[in-house]
Amino acid sequence: MESSVHLTQTAEWEALAAHHHELADTHLRDLFASDPDRGERLVVEAGDLYLDYSKHRLTSETIERLTDLGARVDLLGRAAAMMGGDRINTTEDRAVLHTALRAPRDAVVTLDGENVVPAVHEVLDRMRAFAEAVRSGKWTGYTGRPVRTVVNIGIGGSDLGPAMATRALRSYCHPALDVRFVSNIDGADLAHALADLDPAETLFIVASKTFTTLETLTNAASARDWLVAALGDEAAVAYHFAAVSTATEKVEAFGIDPANMFEFWEWVGGRYSLPSAIGLPLMIAIGPERFDEFLAGYRVIDEHFASAPLTENLPALMGLIGVWYVNLFDAPTHAILPYNEELVRFPAFLQQLDMESNGKRVTREGEAVDYHTGPVVWGEPGTNGQHAFFQLLHQGTRIVPCDFIGTCRPTHELDVHHDLLTANLFAQGEALAFGKPAPAVSAEGVPDELVPHRAFPGNVPSSTLLVPQLTPHVLGQLIAAYEHKVFTQGVVWDINSFDQWGVELGKALANRISPELQRAAEPELAHDSSTNALIRRYRRLRSR
Ligand code: F6P
Repeated sequence: MESSVHLTQTAEWEALAAHHHELADTHLRDLFASDPDRGERLVVEAGDLYLDYSKHRLTSETIERLTDLGARVDLLGRAAAMMGGDRINTTEDRAVLHTALRAPRDAVVTLDGENVVPAVHEVLDRMRAFAEAVRSGKWTGYTGRPVRTVVNIGIGGSDLGPAMATRALRSYCHPALDVRFVSNIDGADLAHALADLDPAETLFIVASKTFTTLETLTNAASARDWLVAALGDEAAVAYHFAAVSTATEKVEAFGIDPANMFEFWEWVGGRYSLPSAIGLPLMIAIGPERFDEFLAGYRVIDEHFASAPLTENLPALMGLIGVWYVNLFDAPTHAILPYNEELVRFPAFLQQLDMESNGKRVTREGEAVDYHTGPVVWGEPGTNGQHAFFQLLHQGTRIVPCDFIGTCRPTHELDVHHDLLTANLFAQGEALAFGKPAPAVSAEGVPDELVPHRAFPGNVPSSTLLVPQLTPHVLGQLIAAYEHKVFTQGVVWDINSFDQWGVELGKALANRISPELQRAAEPELAHDSSTNALIRRYRRLRSR
């Protein structure tokens, strides 16, 4: 869409809004009754992903209207521009090439006249050698002992991706290597992570795109102090620290041997960086071959997204259906509900991916938008969530579109558990969609006064993403699907999904407040009265 065209003034948007007006009050019960095959028809497959979107408050006409909108904003053209190296992150003047991180060795992706793929594979090759050395025990620490624990120190995109994926793939992890993640500047995080470790057998990976992030540098400095104090020699750092960054000089200044530094590039956004060297702890945990399968999974969906027509394009449909709820139904949030305990960190990972990308209020041209953009993304694995917040999904006043994610085969031997888990997944999608109307509740003999309390309105929309099994290959596919979903929505909303200026103000204020907490009293605090009072109270209580 040319920037001068205003989204909500396009004919496609108006058609969508008119269609919503007609459909808004229709119940999923009626949609299924009048179209009994929709459960088989309103589905799309890509690679190993099967997306059932029939339990959404839409018809084939809705999909037509949404894909018309996708065509109007030239979604696939914009995807090609991203994957082709255009500087689509205009506020930082950067290309957005995370798809090149999983391109095959012989692919050509040109940026400023240079093919970036050879450099990607050169780093992957170095990562493989390093990971193999650590996994086999060939890499030894300062005292000659092999590594038993890897501690990744990073935050945001330098933590959530590898932490989520290492957890998700734990049944593929090296049995004798413990891979841990420290992110928070709260010393409790590092202190507890190190409490039971032997420095002589510990390897730290300091992961930071910029190598300026306060949390990561503070944790890394404390980890270095811990190591040097125990091993008695600064020279030990070279044996026990590796770094992943775009900032070579800063890594060297920190004292990490450049031979142990794994590079990535400014054209990789932090929240999109898991398939770069940021994935090193994951590669150490699952091994280079599994990591290759993981990257190949991403690639399956990249290729699908780039080429499938919008009506059959799984990530595009996920994104467009999300727009339907955010903008037409005014749904403020979106729930991610993996029915797989291994995906316990997936909602948090997607929270950053989505909210840092699409939590924007101006268009690419800097004009204030007059429509909502990214929803609040949240979630927890089922069945735990059922016993916590599902009450609101079933009987609350807000519409919460849900993504159920299920696996057909478990990665453990307890098949009975898996069937029960999956029965719950399917049951929740059914219950949310169809509910239980008052007459059905009365017919069960429920006293009249309790009927309103025990009736379920239904009509709560959900997607079900069903995959064969949670393998590295499938996980790569799932992540890529959500990356492109987020991209789709950013294109529709005409925002820059690849900057994150909104995190800067808080960082600047923390830098100002930090020395003020150390000082016993003056100079005079010059914040608002609330912040001033909080600082004074903290100073008073901290010194006791
Ligand atoms: O503050 C937000 C952010 O910049 C994220 O976008 C990023 O993933 C995270 O901080 C960590 O940044 P870095 O990898 O540069 O330490």
